[in-house]
Amino acid sequence: MKISAALSRELSNLPKQATVMVIGEVDTGKSTLLALLARWFRSQSQHVAIVDADVGQADIGPPGFVSYGFVEHDIESLQSVRRQDSYLVGSTSPYNRGLNVVAGVQACVRDARCQGSDVTLVDTTGLVKGISGIQLKCAKAEAIKPDLIIALNTPGIEPLTSCLKQLGFRVSRFLPIPGARIRTAQERKHLRVSRWNSYLGGNPHKMEIDPAEVKVLRWWGESRPVDTEQVPNGTVVAIPDPNRPGFHIPCVWTVTEGEEAGSRLSLLVPEPPEVQPGVVWVSGYKLGLEGNTVVSA
Ligand SMILES: Nc1ncnc2c1ncn2[C@@H]1O[C@H](COP(=O)(O)OP(=O)(O)O)[C@@H](O)[C@H]1O
Ligand SMILES: [Mg+2]
Repeated sequence: MKISAALSRELSNLPKQATVMVIGEVDTGKSTLLALLARWFRSQSQHVAIVDADVGQADIGPPGFVSYGFVEHDIESLQSVRRQDSYLVGSTSPYNRGLNVVAGVQACVRDARCQGSDVTLVDTTGLVKGISGIQLKCAKAEAIKPDLIIALNTPGIEPLTSCLKQLGFRVSRFLPIPGARIRTAQERKHLRVSRWNSYLGGNPHKMEIDPAEVKVLRWWGESRPVDTEQVPNGTVVAIPDPNRPGFHIPCVWTVTEGEEAGSRLSLLVPEPPEVQPGVVWVSGYKLGLEGNTVVSA
């Protein structure tokens, strides 16, 4: 599959260090289009970054996080983009999490640009309708000021595209990707589970946390420490990335059977960070675990 002549004309007119945001309803082919766009920009010798703001059907990082990475080879799917960093949202739905999503997208776009991306492509959730969808996408656009918004055109997206145009954004509408198909709720769940297991990498490290030394706080919530005995096994948590301010390392809270609760905590993480974190951010998003394997997400 290739992008159309009309779309490649649009892309050829972008300024240096451009940001392009793709919007559309669920399963209209946004992520497929992003992979095609990445290939097109690479063929123009551009260094491409992808920001994945679809917290439900995440491709680059685990679900519940906004993540970004650089495209290092011609990709068929966004899932082969190596994750660079992530920002905790703490839910697989953007409902009631719009502020976290916008903050995460802004942080990822800023960092990708600082690290030298020529073009930054932003993938989004399919929430485009109603007040929630329009507010979320308008806030996102205002936060990152995309040079071009590509809308995969369906009747339901019309109120959003006209609002974005009124705000002064350049919006180009294209037909949904031919062949894009609706995924069932079961397929969506399965994809979330597979993204988590792929992030944890099969043999995750168990990082021991001393609750006497590490603050355990609710993400964007109360500053009072969380009662560690009340955090369920499988809760998605994050620790600050020691290498990049504002970013987080996704972790999973595990409770060891038979241990005195609260005495010792452990987190599952693919690679242990070189420094002990000072804080663990706790979200309300809980995974089902069997041993170190995620079975529901
Ligand atoms: N040309 C195509 N042929 C077959 N399947 C496709 C094609 N384009 C997309 N799909 C499939 O359709 C589904 C939705 O596409 P996707 O790009 O993930 O949409 P979105 O990101 O908008 O949710 C995915 O399962 C994807 O693999
Ligand atoms: Mg997608």
